[in-house]
Amino acid sequence: MKFPIDRQAVKPVYLQISDRFSRLIKSGTLPTGDRLPSIRALAKNIQVNKLTVIEAYNVLEADGLIHARPGSGYFVNPESLISSQIKSNFAPIQEVIIPEQQNVSFFNVYQLSVQAKSQPGVIDFSSGFPIASGLKDLQRHARRAMKQVTESLFNYDFPQGQSILRLQIAKMLIQLGLEVSADNLIITNGSKQGLSLVMNHYLQAGDWIVTESPTYYGTLDIVDDIGARIIGIPMQGSGMNLELLEQYLQSHRPKLIYTVSTLQNPTGITTTLQHRQQLIALAEKYGCLILEDNSFEGLNFEPVPPPIKSLDRSDSVIYTGTFSKTLMPGLRVGYLLATGKYYRPLLKQKLFHDLHVSTVSQAIVSEYLASGDYRRRLNHLRTSNLCSRNAMLHALERYFPEEATWTIPNGGLFLWVQLPSEISLVSITYQARSENVLIYPGMSFFPGQKGYNSLRLNFSLAPEVIDRGIAILGRLLKQHLQ
Ligand SMILES: Cc1ncc(COP(=O)(O)O)c(C=O)c1O
Repeated sequence: MKFPIDRQAVKPVYLQISDRFSRLIKSGTLPTGDRLPSIRALAKNIQVNKLTVIEAYNVLEADGLIHARPGSGYFVNPESLISSQIKSNFAPIQEVIIPEQQNVSFFNVYQLSVQAKSQPGVIDFSSGFPIASGLKDLQRHARRAMKQVTESLFNYDFPQGQSILRLQIAKMLIQLGLEVSADNLIITNGSKQGLSLVMNHYLQAGDWIVTESPTYYGTLDIVDDIGARIIGIPMQGSGMNLELLEQYLQSHRPKLIYTVSTLQNPTGITTTLQHRQQLIALAEKYGCLILEDNSFEGLNFEPVPPPIKSLDRSDSVIYTGTFSKTLMPGLRVGYLLATGKYYRPLLKQKLFHDLHVSTVSQAIVSEYLASGDYRRRLNHLRTSNLCSRNAMLHALERYFPEEATWTIPNGGLFLWVQLPSEISLVSITYQARSENVLIYPGMSFFPGQKGYNSLRLNFSLAPEVIDRGIAILGRLLKQHLQ
Protein backbone atom coordinates (compact mmCIF):
# COMPACT_ATOMS: atom_id res chain seq x y z
CA MET A 1 0.00 0.00 0.00
CA LYS A 2 1.39 3.41 -0.98
CA PHE A 3 0.31 6.82 0.18
CA PRO A 4 2.02 10.18 0.41
CA ILE A 5 3.39 11.34 3.74
CA ASP A 6 4.14 15.04 4.17
CA ARG A 7 6.95 15.23 6.69
CA GLN A 8 6.91 19.04 6.73
CA ALA A 9 3.20 19.24 7.55
CA VAL A 10 1.97 20.48 10.94
CA LYS A 11 -0.22 17.39 11.20
CA PRO A 12 1.86 14.58 12.79
CA VAL A 13 2.69 11.64 10.51
CA TYR A 14 0.72 9.14 12.61
CA LEU A 15 -2.43 11.26 12.15
CA GLN A 16 -1.82 11.49 8.42
CA ILE A 17 -1.73 7.68 8.35
CA SER A 18 -4.81 7.24 10.55
CA ASP A 19 -6.77 9.86 8.54
CA ARG A 20 -5.95 8.09 5.31
CA PHE A 21 -7.16 4.72 6.63
CA SER A 22 -10.18 6.35 8.22
CA ARG A 23 -11.24 7.72 4.81
CA LEU A 24 -10.62 4.36 3.12
CA ILE A 25 -12.73 2.57 5.73
CA LYS A 26 -15.57 5.10 5.81
CA SER A 27 -15.82 5.17 2.02
CA GLY A 28 -16.03 1.36 1.96
CA THR A 29 -12.77 1.00 0.01
CA LEU A 30 -11.54 -1.09 2.93
CA PRO A 31 -14.64 -3.17 3.77
CA THR A 32 -15.63 -4.89 7.02
CA GLY A 33 -13.27 -7.68 7.98
CA ASP A 34 -10.42 -6.54 5.72
CA ARG A 35 -7.00 -6.88 7.25
CA LEU A 36 -4.81 -3.77 7.48
CA PRO A 37 -1.15 -4.07 6.49
CA SER A 38 1.03 -5.41 9.30
CA ILE A 39 2.82 -2.78 11.37
CA ARG A 40 6.21 -3.92 10.10
CA ALA A 41 5.19 -4.03 6.46
CA LEU A 42 3.53 -0.61 6.49
CA ALA A 43 6.41 1.00 8.38
CA LYS A 44 8.84 -0.37 5.81
CA ASN A 45 6.65 0.52 2.87
CA ILE A 46 6.11 4.17 3.74
CA GLN A 47 9.44 4.50 5.57
CA VAL A 48 8.32 5.50 9.02
CA ASN A 49 9.13 4.17 12.45
CA LYS A 50 7.05 1.18 13.63
CA LEU A 51 5.93 3.24 16.65
CA THR A 52 4.37 5.77 14.29
CA VAL A 53 2.24 3.05 12.68
CA ILE A 54 1.31 1.69 16.12
CA GLU A 55 0.13 5.17 17.16
CA ALA A 56 -1.89 5.51 13.94
CA TYR A 57 -3.55 2.11 14.51
CA ASN A 58 -4.23 3.06 18.13
CA VAL A 59 -6.14 6.12 16.92
CA LEU A 60 -8.18 4.02 14.48
CA GLU A 61 -8.91 1.49 17.19
CA ALA A 62 -9.94 4.19 19.66
CA ASP A 63 -12.19 5.63 16.94
CA GLY A 64 -13.98 2.29 16.68
CA LEU A 65 -12.84 1.73 13.09
CA ILE A 66 -10.57 -1.30 13.56
CA HIS A 67 -9.79 -3.94 16.15
CA ALA A 68 -6.70 -6.00 16.90
CA ARG A 69 -6.76 -9.80 16.91
CA PRO A 70 -3.81 -11.01 18.94
CA GLY A 71 -1.28 -12.72 16.69
CA SER A 72 -3.27 -11.99 13.50
CA GLY A 73 -3.18 -8.22 13.02
CA TYR A 74 -5.67 -5.39 12.67
CA PHE A 75 -9.09 -5.76 11.00
CA VAL A 76 -11.82 -3.35 9.88
CA ASN A 77 -14.80 -3.33 12.24
CA PRO A 78 -18.36 -4.14 11.19
CA GLU A 79 -20.17 -1.08 9.86
CA SER A 80 -22.58 -1.02 12.79
CA LEU A 81 -19.68 -0.11 15.06
CA ILE A 82 -18.26 2.48 12.69
CA SER A 83 -21.34 4.53 11.92
CA SER A 84 -22.95 4.37 15.33
CA GLN A 85 -26.10 6.45 15.72
CA ILE A 86 -24.34 9.23 17.54
CA LYS A 87 -26.38 12.41 18.05
CA SER A 88 -24.60 15.71 18.14
CA ASN A 89 -26.97 18.47 18.98
CA PHE A 90 -26.26 21.72 20.68
CA ALA A 91 -29.14 24.13 20.59
CA PRO A 92 -29.30 25.96 23.90
CA ILE A 93 -31.62 28.83 24.68
CA GLN A 94 -30.21 32.00 23.14
CA GLU A 95 -30.71 34.19 26.17
CA VAL A 96 -28.17 36.79 27.35
CA ILE A 97 -27.54 36.54 31.08
CA ILE A 98 -26.68 39.59 33.18
CA PRO A 99 -26.74 38.41 36.80
CA GLU A 100 -26.96 40.71 39.80
CA GLN A 101 -24.45 38.56 41.57
CA GLN A 102 -22.60 35.34 41.05
CA ASN A 103 -24.43 33.05 43.55
CA VAL A 104 -21.92 30.22 43.25
CA SER A 105 -18.65 30.01 45.04
CA PHE A 106 -15.67 28.60 43.16
CA PHE A 107 -14.25 27.94 46.63
CA ASN A 108 -16.95 25.38 47.45
CA VAL A 109 -16.94 23.74 44.03
CA TYR A 110 -13.14 23.49 44.04
CA GLN A 111 -12.96 22.07 47.56
CA LEU A 112 -15.51 19.40 46.62
CA SER A 113 -13.51 18.45 43.50
CA VAL A 114 -10.26 17.98 45.38
CA GLN A 115 -12.06 16.06 48.11
CA ALA A 116 -13.66 13.77 45.49
CA LYS A 117 -10.23 12.79 44.20
CA SER A 118 -9.27 11.38 47.59
CA GLN A 119 -12.36 9.16 47.90
CA PRO A 120 -11.69 5.64 46.71
CA GLY A 121 -14.23 4.01 44.41
CA VAL A 122 -16.05 7.12 43.25
CA ILE A 123 -16.72 7.72 39.57
CA ASP A 124 -16.04 11.40 39.15
CA PHE A 125 -17.56 13.04 36.08
CA SER A 126 -17.76 16.37 37.89
CA SER A 127 -14.26 17.73 38.20
CA GLY A 128 -11.97 19.34 35.64
CA PHE A 129 -9.05 17.11 36.47
CA PRO A 130 -7.17 15.16 33.81
CA ILE A 131 -6.59 11.45 34.45
CA ALA A 132 -3.32 10.89 36.40
CA SER A 133 -1.06 9.13 33.92
CA GLY A 134 2.60 8.96 32.92
CA LEU A 135 3.71 9.32 36.52
CA LYS A 136 6.97 7.39 35.97
CA ASP A 137 8.00 9.79 33.21
CA LEU A 138 7.15 12.75 35.38
CA GLN A 139 9.24 11.32 38.21
CA ARG A 140 12.18 10.79 35.87
CA HIS A 141 12.06 14.36 34.58
CA ALA A 142 11.56 15.70 38.08
CA ARG A 143 14.71 13.85 39.25
CA ARG A 144 16.69 15.34 36.38
CA ALA A 145 15.35 18.79 37.15
CA MET A 146 16.28 18.45 40.82
CA LYS A 147 19.88 17.82 39.79
CA GLN A 148 19.91 21.37 38.48
CA VAL A 149 19.17 22.76 41.91
CA THR A 150 22.34 24.77 41.84
CA GLU A 151 22.46 28.50 42.10
CA SER A 152 20.29 29.17 39.08
CA LEU A 153 17.26 27.45 40.62
CA PHE A 154 18.13 28.19 44.23
CA ASN A 155 17.62 31.93 44.18
CA TYR A 156 14.72 34.27 43.71
CA ASP A 157 14.09 34.68 40.01
CA PHE A 158 12.76 37.28 37.57
CA PRO A 159 8.95 37.57 37.59
CA GLN A 160 8.70 36.52 33.92
CA GLY A 161 10.26 33.13 34.76
CA GLN A 162 13.14 31.07 33.40
CA SER A 163 14.32 32.18 29.97
CA ILE A 164 14.92 28.62 28.76
CA LEU A 165 11.31 27.64 29.49
CA ARG A 166 9.96 30.79 27.85
CA LEU A 167 12.01 30.02 24.76
CA GLN A 168 10.63 26.47 24.63
CA ILE A 169 7.06 27.72 25.02
CA ALA A 170 7.62 30.37 22.35
CA LYS A 171 8.74 27.65 19.93
CA MET A 172 5.65 25.60 20.73
CA LEU A 173 3.36 28.58 20.17
CA ILE A 174 5.04 29.49 16.87
CA GLN A 175 3.97 26.06 15.65
CA LEU A 176 0.37 27.04 16.41
CA GLY A 177 0.74 30.05 14.12
CA LEU A 178 1.52 32.68 16.76
CA GLU A 179 4.19 35.32 16.30
CA VAL A 180 5.88 35.24 19.66
CA SER A 181 9.27 35.52 21.31
CA ALA A 182 10.37 34.56 24.81
CA ASP A 183 10.14 38.27 25.72
CA ASN A 184 6.36 38.23 25.23
CA LEU A 185 5.84 35.49 27.81
CA ILE A 186 5.28 35.51 31.56
CA ILE A 187 5.29 32.16 33.35
CA THR A 188 2.31 32.03 35.73
CA ASN A 189 1.01 29.70 38.43
CA GLY A 190 -1.32 27.92 36.03
CA SER A 191 -3.54 29.74 33.59
CA LYS A 192 -5.87 30.59 36.47
CA GLN A 193 -3.29 33.05 37.71
CA GLY A 194 -2.91 34.42 34.18
CA LEU A 195 -6.66 35.09 34.08
CA SER A 196 -6.57 36.66 37.50
CA LEU A 197 -3.61 38.96 36.70
CA VAL A 198 -5.23 40.22 33.50
CA MET A 199 -8.67 40.72 35.00
CA ASN A 200 -7.39 42.38 38.15
CA HIS A 201 -5.35 44.81 36.10
CA TYR A 202 -7.84 45.64 33.36
CA LEU A 203 -11.14 45.48 35.19
CA GLN A 204 -12.54 47.58 38.01
CA ALA A 205 -15.71 47.34 40.06
CA GLY A 206 -18.67 48.25 37.86
CA ASP A 207 -16.91 47.51 34.53
CA TRP A 208 -18.60 45.19 32.06
CA ILE A 209 -17.01 41.96 30.85
CA VAL A 210 -18.36 39.51 28.27
CA THR A 211 -18.07 35.79 28.89
CA GLU A 212 -19.41 32.82 27.02
CA SER A 213 -22.48 31.34 28.64
CA PRO A 214 -21.81 28.69 29.88
CA THR A 215 -18.15 29.27 30.75
CA TYR A 216 -15.32 28.17 33.08
CA TYR A 217 -16.58 28.92 36.60
CA GLY A 218 -13.12 29.86 37.90
CA THR A 219 -13.37 32.97 35.75
CA LEU A 220 -16.85 33.86 36.99
CA ASP A 221 -15.46 33.93 40.50
CA ILE A 222 -12.55 36.24 39.63
CA VAL A 223 -14.94 38.70 37.99
CA ASP A 224 -17.27 38.56 40.96
CA ASP A 225 -14.41 39.24 43.36
CA ILE A 226 -13.40 42.34 41.39
CA GLY A 227 -17.01 43.55 41.41
CA ALA A 228 -17.17 43.74 37.61
CA ARG A 229 -20.46 42.95 35.84
CA ILE A 230 -20.86 39.95 33.54
CA ILE A 231 -22.69 39.80 30.24
CA GLY A 232 -23.11 36.09 29.48
CA ILE A 233 -23.45 35.68 25.71
CA PRO A 234 -25.06 32.33 24.84
CA MET A 235 -22.99 29.68 23.11
CA GLN A 236 -23.95 28.15 19.80
CA GLY A 237 -22.36 25.20 18.02
CA SER A 238 -19.68 27.45 16.52
CA GLY A 239 -19.01 29.65 19.57
CA MET A 240 -20.68 32.59 21.28
CA ASN A 241 -23.58 34.21 19.43
CA LEU A 242 -21.85 37.06 17.58
CA GLU A 243 -25.01 38.94 16.72
CA LEU A 244 -25.94 39.22 20.36
CA LEU A 245 -22.32 40.01 21.20
CA GLU A 246 -22.33 43.01 18.86
CA GLN A 247 -25.56 44.34 20.36
CA TYR A 248 -24.01 44.28 23.82
CA LEU A 249 -20.66 45.66 22.66
CA GLN A 250 -22.65 48.60 21.35
CA SER A 251 -24.93 49.09 24.34
CA HIS A 252 -22.64 48.27 27.28
CA ARG A 253 -19.12 48.95 25.97
CA PRO A 254 -17.48 46.10 27.91
CA LYS A 255 -13.75 46.30 28.60
CA LEU A 256 -12.97 42.64 28.04
CA ILE A 257 -14.24 39.58 26.16
CA TYR A 258 -13.20 36.30 27.77
CA THR A 259 -13.24 33.26 25.49
CA VAL A 260 -12.06 29.66 25.67
CA SER A 261 -11.73 29.35 21.92
CA THR A 262 -10.61 25.72 21.65
CA LEU A 263 -12.23 22.71 23.36
CA GLN A 264 -14.18 25.03 25.61
CA ASN A 265 -14.77 24.29 29.25
CA PRO A 266 -17.56 23.25 29.77
CA THR A 267 -19.07 22.48 26.33
CA GLY A 268 -16.03 21.07 24.50
CA ILE A 269 -16.82 23.37 21.54
CA THR A 270 -14.03 24.71 19.31
CA THR A 271 -14.86 27.89 17.44
CA THR A 272 -14.38 28.02 13.68
CA LEU A 273 -11.77 30.15 11.93
CA GLN A 274 -14.55 32.35 10.59
CA HIS A 275 -15.94 32.85 14.08
CA ARG A 276 -12.46 33.82 15.29
CA GLN A 277 -12.03 36.33 12.47
CA GLN A 278 -15.41 37.88 13.17
CA LEU A 279 -14.79 38.01 16.90
CA ILE A 280 -11.51 39.87 16.54
CA ALA A 281 -13.03 42.22 13.98
CA LEU A 282 -15.79 43.08 16.50
CA ALA A 283 -13.27 43.56 19.30
CA GLU A 284 -11.29 45.96 17.11
CA LYS A 285 -14.42 47.83 16.02
CA TYR A 286 -15.50 48.46 19.63
CA GLY A 287 -12.02 48.84 21.14
CA CYS A 288 -12.45 45.84 23.44
CA LEU A 289 -9.63 43.60 24.68
CA ILE A 290 -9.95 39.81 24.15
CA LEU A 291 -8.62 37.41 26.76
CA GLU A 292 -8.15 34.09 24.96
CA ASP A 293 -7.84 31.09 27.26
CA ASN A 294 -6.33 28.08 25.50
CA SER A 295 -6.02 25.79 28.52
CA PHE A 296 -6.77 22.64 26.52
CA GLU A 297 -4.25 23.33 23.77
CA GLY A 298 -2.68 20.13 22.46
CA LEU A 299 -5.57 17.87 23.46
CA ASN A 300 -7.38 18.04 20.10
CA PHE A 301 -8.05 14.83 18.12
CA GLU A 302 -8.29 16.55 14.74
CA PRO A 303 -6.60 19.80 13.67
CA VAL A 304 -8.10 22.99 15.13
CA PRO A 305 -7.99 26.56 13.74
CA PRO A 306 -5.06 28.78 14.80
CA PRO A 307 -5.65 30.78 17.99
CA ILE A 308 -7.39 34.16 17.84
CA LYS A 309 -4.12 35.69 18.99
CA SER A 310 -2.52 34.58 15.70
CA LEU A 311 -5.04 36.79 13.84
CA ASP A 312 -4.29 39.78 16.04
CA ARG A 313 -2.84 42.71 14.05
CA SER A 314 -3.92 45.48 16.41
CA ASP A 315 -2.73 44.17 19.78
CA SER A 316 -6.25 43.32 20.88
CA VAL A 317 -5.65 39.86 22.36
CA ILE A 318 -3.92 38.53 25.48
CA TYR A 319 -3.47 34.77 25.44
CA THR A 320 -3.07 32.26 28.24
CA GLY A 321 -2.08 28.59 28.29
CA THR A 322 -1.08 25.93 30.80
CA PHE A 323 0.62 22.58 31.34
CA SER A 324 -2.05 21.55 33.87
CA LYS A 325 -4.13 19.49 31.46
CA THR A 326 -1.26 18.01 29.46
CA LEU A 327 1.41 17.37 32.12
CA MET A 328 0.30 17.82 35.71
CA PRO A 329 -2.04 20.30 37.41
CA GLY A 330 -0.06 20.16 40.67
CA LEU A 331 3.03 21.68 39.04
CA ARG A 332 1.13 24.96 38.62
CA VAL A 333 2.88 26.07 35.47
CA GLY A 334 1.04 28.15 32.89
CA TYR A 335 1.87 31.23 30.86
CA LEU A 336 0.61 34.55 29.61
CA LEU A 337 1.39 35.83 26.15
CA ALA A 338 1.10 39.59 26.14
CA THR A 339 2.44 41.83 23.40
CA GLY A 340 3.05 45.57 23.10
CA LYS A 341 1.70 47.77 25.86
CA TYR A 342 0.19 44.87 27.79
CA TYR A 343 3.40 43.12 28.76
CA ARG A 344 4.95 45.41 31.36
CA PRO A 345 1.88 46.08 33.50
CA LEU A 346 1.19 42.34 33.69
CA LEU A 347 4.80 41.62 34.60
CA LYS A 348 4.49 44.13 37.44
CA GLN A 349 1.26 42.43 38.53
CA LYS A 350 3.06 39.08 38.61
CA LEU A 351 5.86 40.48 40.75
CA PHE A 352 3.36 42.15 43.02
CA HIS A 353 1.33 38.97 43.53
CA ASP A 354 3.97 36.33 44.24
CA LEU A 355 7.34 37.28 42.66
CA HIS A 356 7.54 34.27 40.34
CA VAL A 357 6.59 30.63 39.75
CA SER A 358 8.61 27.96 41.58
CA THR A 359 11.91 27.54 39.73
CA VAL A 360 11.75 23.78 40.37
CA SER A 361 8.32 23.43 38.74
CA GLN A 362 9.57 25.43 35.78
CA ALA A 363 12.67 23.21 35.50
CA ILE A 364 10.53 20.05 35.47
CA VAL A 365 8.41 21.35 32.61
CA SER A 366 11.52 22.52 30.80
CA GLU A 367 13.17 19.09 31.16
CA TYR A 368 10.05 17.47 29.80
CA LEU A 369 9.89 19.77 26.79
CA ALA A 370 13.60 19.37 26.04
CA SER A 371 13.37 15.57 26.02
CA GLY A 372 10.83 15.22 23.22
CA ASP A 373 8.68 13.18 25.63
CA TYR A 374 6.08 15.94 25.63
CA ARG A 375 5.07 15.23 22.03
CA ARG A 376 4.85 11.54 22.79
CA ARG A 377 2.78 12.28 25.85
CA LEU A 378 0.36 14.45 23.88
CA ASN A 379 -0.05 11.68 21.32
CA HIS A 380 -0.73 9.20 24.08
CA LEU A 381 -3.22 11.51 25.83
CA ARG A 382 -5.06 12.19 22.58
CA THR A 383 -5.38 8.49 21.85
CA SER A 384 -6.56 7.55 25.31
CA ASN A 385 -8.92 10.55 25.57
CA LEU A 386 -10.40 9.70 22.18
CA CYS A 387 -11.03 6.19 23.37
CA SER A 388 -12.69 7.57 26.51
CA ARG A 389 -14.74 10.13 24.58
CA ASN A 390 -16.03 7.42 22.28
CA ALA A 391 -16.82 5.19 25.24
CA MET A 392 -18.83 8.03 26.75
CA LEU A 393 -20.69 8.72 23.49
CA HIS A 394 -21.62 5.05 23.17
CA ALA A 395 -22.70 4.87 26.81
CA LEU A 396 -24.83 8.03 26.51
CA GLU A 397 -26.46 6.59 23.42
CA ARG A 398 -27.15 3.36 25.23
CA TYR A 399 -28.26 4.52 28.68
CA PHE A 400 -29.50 8.15 28.56
CA PRO A 401 -33.13 9.09 27.88
CA GLU A 402 -33.73 9.79 24.24
CA GLU A 403 -34.70 13.40 24.95
CA ALA A 404 -31.09 14.09 25.99
CA THR A 405 -28.63 15.59 23.48
CA TRP A 406 -24.92 16.28 23.76
CA THR A 407 -21.91 17.84 22.09
CA ILE A 408 -19.24 15.74 20.38
CA PRO A 409 -16.01 17.52 21.26
CA ASN A 410 -12.90 17.25 19.14
CA GLY A 411 -10.71 16.71 22.21
CA GLY A 412 -10.23 18.21 25.67
CA LEU A 413 -11.84 16.65 28.71
CA PHE A 414 -15.52 17.49 28.63
CA LEU A 415 -18.75 17.03 26.82
CA TRP A 416 -21.98 18.84 27.53
CA VAL A 417 -25.38 17.25 27.86
CA GLN A 418 -28.72 19.03 27.55
CA LEU A 419 -31.60 17.44 29.42
CA PRO A 420 -35.37 17.91 29.45
CA SER A 421 -36.44 20.78 31.69
CA GLU A 422 -38.64 18.61 33.92
CA ILE A 423 -35.63 16.76 35.37
CA SER A 424 -34.43 18.03 38.74
CA LEU A 425 -30.67 17.87 38.43
CA VAL A 426 -30.13 18.84 42.04
CA SER A 427 -31.89 15.72 43.28
CA ILE A 428 -30.20 13.58 40.59
CA THR A 429 -26.85 14.92 41.83
CA TYR A 430 -27.61 13.76 45.38
CA GLN A 431 -28.98 10.41 44.27
CA ALA A 432 -25.95 9.81 42.04
CA ARG A 433 -23.61 10.71 44.89
CA SER A 434 -25.23 8.05 47.08
CA GLU A 435 -24.28 5.58 44.32
CA ASN A 436 -20.71 6.94 44.19
CA VAL A 437 -21.13 8.85 40.93
CA LEU A 438 -20.23 12.54 41.04
CA ILE A 439 -21.74 15.19 38.76
CA TYR A 440 -22.36 18.94 38.94
CA PRO A 441 -25.48 20.43 37.49
CA GLY A 442 -24.46 22.57 34.52
CA MET A 443 -25.97 25.67 36.15
CA SER A 444 -22.66 26.29 37.95
CA PHE A 445 -21.16 27.26 34.59
CA PHE A 446 -23.63 30.02 33.82
CA PRO A 447 -23.26 33.57 35.11
CA GLY A 448 -25.44 33.85 38.21
CA GLN A 449 -26.26 30.13 37.90
CA LYS A 450 -29.10 31.06 35.57
CA GLY A 451 -28.73 28.25 33.09
CA TYR A 452 -30.93 25.59 31.62
CA ASN A 453 -30.93 21.89 32.52
CA SER A 454 -27.53 20.60 31.53
CA LEU A 455 -24.52 18.60 32.69
CA ARG A 456 -20.80 18.86 32.05
CA LEU A 457 -19.27 15.40 31.99
CA ASN A 458 -15.51 14.81 32.26
CA PHE A 459 -14.73 11.85 30.01
CA SER A 460 -11.05 11.40 30.93
CA LEU A 461 -11.72 8.12 32.75
CA ALA A 462 -11.20 4.47 31.85
CA PRO A 463 -13.88 3.29 29.33
CA GLU A 464 -15.25 0.57 31.65
CA VAL A 465 -15.62 3.11 34.48
CA ILE A 466 -17.43 5.49 32.12
CA ASP A 467 -19.82 2.74 31.10
CA ARG A 468 -20.63 1.89 34.71
CA GLY A 469 -21.13 5.52 35.74
CA ILE A 470 -23.23 6.54 32.75
CA ALA A 471 -25.41 3.45 33.22
CA ILE A 472 -26.18 4.60 36.78
CA LEU A 473 -26.91 8.18 35.69
CA GLY A 474 -29.07 6.99 32.81
CA ARG A 475 -31.14 4.84 35.15
CA LEU A 476 -31.69 7.75 37.57
CA LEU A 477 -32.63 10.13 34.76
CA LYS A 478 -35.11 7.69 33.25
CA GLN A 479 -36.68 7.05 36.67
CA HIS A 480 -37.15 10.81 37.00
CA LEU A 481 -38.86 11.09 33.66
CA GLN A 482 -41.41 8.35 34.41
C1 LIG B 1 -10.84 27.05 30.82
C2 LIG B 1 -9.89 26.94 31.97
N1 LIG B 1 -9.04 27.94 32.23
C3 LIG B 1 -8.19 27.90 33.24
C4 LIG B 1 -8.13 26.82 34.08
C5 LIG B 1 -7.15 26.81 35.21
O1 LIG B 1 -6.12 25.91 34.95
P1 LIG B 1 -4.70 25.97 35.63
O2 LIG B 1 -4.53 24.69 36.35
O3 LIG B 1 -3.74 26.13 34.51
O4 LIG B 1 -4.67 27.15 36.53
C6 LIG B 1 -9.00 25.75 33.88
C7 LIG B 1 -9.00 24.58 34.77
O5 LIG B 1 -9.81 23.71 34.72
C8 LIG B 1 -9.89 25.81 32.78
O6 LIG B 1 -10.76 24.81 32.52
